Amino acid sequence: MNRTTIAHARLAASIGQNTRLQGWVRTRRDSKSGFSFIEINDGSCQGNIQVIADNTLENYESEIKHLTTGCSITVEGEIKESGGRGQATEVQAASVQLIGAADPETYPLQKKRHSFEKLREWAHLRPRTNTFGAVARVRNCIINSIHQFYQERGFLNVHTPIITASDCEGAGEMFQVTTMKLDQIAKQSIESLDYKFDFFDRPSYLTVSGQLAAESYACSLGKVYTFGPTFRAENSNTSRHLAEFWMVEPEVAFNDLNDNMDLAEAFLKRIFGDVLEKCPDDMAFFNDRVDENKALIERLEGIVSTDFVRLPYTEAIEILLASKQKFEFEVKWGIDLQSEHERYLTEQHFKKPVVLFDYPRTIKPFYMYCNDDEKTVRAMDVLVPTVGEIIGGSQREHRLDVLESRMRDQDLNVDDYWWYTDLRRYGTVPHAGFGLGLERAIQFATSMANIRDVIPFPRTPGNAEF
Ligand code: 4AD
Ligand code: MG
Repeated sequence: MNRTTIAHARLAASIGQNTRLQGWVRTRRDSKSGFSFIEINDGSCQGNIQVIADNTLENYESEIKHLTTGCSITVEGEIKESGGRGQATEVQAASVQLIGAADPETYPLQKKRHSFEKLREWAHLRPRTNTFGAVARVRNCIINSIHQFYQERGFLNVHTPIITASDCEGAGEMFQVTTMKLDQIAKQSIESLDYKFDFFDRPSYLTVSGQLAAESYACSLGKVYTFGPTFRAENSNTSRHLAEFWMVEPEVAFNDLNDNMDLAEAFLKRIFGDVLEKCPDDMAFFNDRVDENKALIERLEGIVSTDFVRLPYTEAIEILLASKQKFEFEVKWGIDLQSEHERYLTEQHFKKPVVLFDYPRTIKPFYMYCNDDEKTVRAMDVLVPTVGEIIGGSQREHRLDVLESRMRDQDLNVDDYWWYTDLRRYGTVPHAGFGLGLERAIQFATSMANIRDVIPFPRTPGNAEF
């Protein structure tokens, strides 16, 4: 008999088919009239399927009546129209086979509701819950849309190094990679540390961004995107920061900041449009059960159908100053906007996504294109309600002399970046790109409050259990 998924078996069109389903028991209920209802789930969709097991089955007393939450089973039987409410189909079992038991004394995911915090302690089992199954499916949908969006537009996907010697963002938040024995070094005087004995002959780190390498490929192949893991050793225990996250970074030659904003807007509209279209059951679940105001679907539909606001940083500061809002951090020209400022702009003032651009150069990395005002750079951040910054990007400085002087201003050693400056030495072109934090996009698409709940095994300060 063909193995099918519960997603398939739940379709009205499957009624009358014989099926073989495999999954994990969510609940079992025994009826007085000699049969049991077993709800099972196999991760293929939000819903379970109800299996009806009669006491005529040979292992009814010995096994079926002892099935508990978490057991894995194989069921064979016929898909029937269901009499129960809220489900189109059910399975009348011809056989139910226990594959793996789950001791109810110790299995953590008993029927009761657990908080998301509690479930983080069982990150290896939480994908068996409705919420984390839905997060995994929406995450997958978004990953797929990302590739489709760029592939359809002729972008090449490039893999950029995970181990690197350059700090792209210049924020010094890097994890060092070494094969030197730290415990032995600790016993020696630190002056004797010689990178000649380290694997790469130099200090090297996990990447904070694939951008510099992506620029190299864009300045040869036109349109590229990277999609890889990114590491930041920032010690911020917030609901929006991870130490390991995934970033998508498109980079396009002959593009300026306006082209970059157009690309970012079209990109976000595509991925949020796709989750609404392709994951309707999971999105209904997030809307009704996770979003505080049951407004998620409406919010995403709004994003897909309305233009984003485009606002220079200087005007944003004026709006914040005029807002009469009490902010924890003082607002004045030159500050790096805090999450409270970003959220005021996008949630309260405009009530839609805002692309902020032309930031003060003092708060941005060396690679951004300098405007003629000598004060600002062609940076852009896309801010969305509930999450704040979801995308950060810029037009790149493609003038060699300006780039080198910016590097010196930021105390970078120009010689270390010889290959990056070569891109400006030979056939330089204006180019631009941005990075979308995948987990921030998933947070926005699901209304999950904490970023640790949208990645399978979150890495944050003090946490790398799984
Ligand atoms: O704004 P960021 O730091 O930009 C860059 O890294 C550029 N090099 C990208 C580029 O132009 N190619 O990071 C980009 C995005 C942020 O907008 C945010 O969505 C996400 O990455 N991000 C994080 N997500 C989770 N945890 C963290 N610690 C993050 N830091 C940044
Ligand atoms: Mg940023």
